[in-house]
Amino acid sequence: MSASERPLAVVTGASSGIGLELAKVFVEHGFDLVVAAAENDVVHDVARELAAGGARVDPVRADLATFEGNEDLVAVVEGVGRPVDALAVNAGIGIGGDFVDDSDLRAHLRVVDLNISSAVHLAKRLVPAMVERGAGRVLFTSSIAATAPGPFHSVYAASKAFLASFSQSLREELRDSGVTVTALMPGPTDTDFFRRAGMTDTKVATGPKDDPADVARAGFKALMDGDDHVVAGSLRNKAQAAAGRLLPDPVKARAMRGMTEPGSG
Ligand SMILES: NC(=O)c1ccc[n+]([C@@H]2O[C@H](COP(=O)([O-])OP(=O)(O)OC[C@H]3O[C@@H](n4cnc5c(N)ncnc54)[C@H](OP(=O)(O)O)[C@@H]3O)[C@@H](O)[C@H]2O)c1
Repeated sequence: MSASERPLAVVTGASSGIGLELAKVFVEHGFDLVVAAAENDVVHDVARELAAGGARVDPVRADLATFEGNEDLVAVVEGVGRPVDALAVNAGIGIGGDFVDDSDLRAHLRVVDLNISSAVHLAKRLVPAMVERGAGRVLFTSSIAATAPGPFHSVYAASKAFLASFSQSLREELRDSGVTVTALMPGPTDTDFFRRAGMTDTKVATGPKDDPADVARAGFKALMDGDDHVVAGSLRNKAQAAAGRLLPDPVKARAMRGMTEPGSG
């Protein structure tokens, strides 16, 4: 397969965790990549490793919590000069703790900027060309946190609920366009996420976790199958997501408290 015949995927948050594993799966399946993350050296190192097997991998250092950072990524994608076959909007951060007494407003707004605004920005800038071409696959990394209220990580859980809703809405709008939209809904996964979110003393962070490689494979399969969503990982996650459809929100909120309250771990 010549370089120009290889499909192209864009993966955000590809320097670690689920995004890195997604990038590896794309390469295994013959994709070239544009990979984005916030830390310069890491994303460049990762790109070199991903390219070792012959794929073209363009790294982008961009703070996707900013408008300019998203535009920088779009500019690199456009500079590659090839259609985007798959877009994995995966970069995300959490923030744990007591909303009123123990957290910083700017940190909460940064969760909104990255988890929500960047997803809207990249979808608005990159999906129209897919629609015009009549082909493309879009993956949003949501979470099973989207299926219940999330006390002590309230902004994060709401941001993931936004992504689940946005993903389904866009999917329906694009029903006859040739472009599919899929939500990846992992449960607790063994990445740097909980440390970065300041949640290491919670039950959810100290409990069992899934392998990010398994989560990424489930996401890739659902994306390629054109599924609307996939609850990745263990049966426990699938049970939680199913219960989320049945239980009243106040009941779910109380149950989640036991998992996410600081000191619960
Ligand atoms: N781990 C879980 O339990 C879990 C469960 C459900 C859903 N998720 C979701 O999975 C996604 C990936 O998280 P993860 O668990 O793999 O965590 P992770 O290992 O911390 O990876 C987060 C990725 O996002 C990037 N990122 C963070 N801030 C950024 C910014 N401002 N601009 C650009 N990139 C940025 C990071 O790059 P840098 O290192 O360069 O900042 C990194 O590549 C997130 O959307 C998260 O909400 C995680």
